[in-house]
Amino acid sequence: MKTPIVILNFKTYLESSGENALNLAKALETVAIESGITMAAAPQASDIFRITEETDIPILAQHIDPINPGGHTGSNLLECMVEAGITGTLLNHSEQRMKLADIDEVVKQTKSNNVFSVVCTNNIETSVAVATFNPNFVAVEPPELIGSGIPVSQAEPEIVEGTVAKVKKINKKIEVLCGAGISTGDDVSAALELGASGVLLASGIILADNPKEALLDLVSKI
Ligand code: G3P
Repeated sequence: MKTPIVILNFKTYLESSGENALNLAKALETVAIESGITMAAAPQASDIFRITEETDIPILAQHIDPINPGGHTGSNLLECMVEAGITGTLLNHSEQRMKLADIDEVVKQTKSNNVFSVVCTNNIETSVAVATFNPNFVAVEPPELIGSGIPVSQAEPEIVEGTVAKVKKINKKIEVLCGAGISTGDDVSAALELGASGVLLASGIILADNPKEALLDLVSKI
């Protein structure tokens, strides 16, 4: 995956569900074409197939369960997500935490299914733990800043720098992202200066009056 990368987590906002999800993904695609920056989306499971059919940007699942095909009602099966068109998945988001052993299992599954993994973490220590599984990305997001509008790259730069330093010591091929409170081009450029390869964000764009304008501002300083 070409970096820097911007990953928009659609979460479960109505503004990024159903028809709105498709429109937001199309705005991401337009900005990706205009800016040359990799823009990816992580919509809800039920929106994935339609978005992968109608756009050409990388689409991630928000979560994959540590299961094999069979009797697991209500779960997200990786193979089904792959058939729906995902190219990657978030794992262990602070709003959908997983056991360490389950993260390891699903990262292995992503490798055998040729999709990339973005393992979210809440601090430097957890980043170090999951880096030993060799995911493609580790995305550090201090939970208290999520949805706060206070950007991690400016409020807690030491968490981003510390995660980059420690993760790269384990495997320099793992790319580090940061997220929480990111909404402007200044927040993104601060993240890149700290050594991050991109950002993971949600509310600053999804709840903006004009999401496409907000996306253009986001990539304006890269
Ligand atoms: O996954 C991105 C996220 O948790 C950050 O959310 O709303 O602070 O950009 P937000």
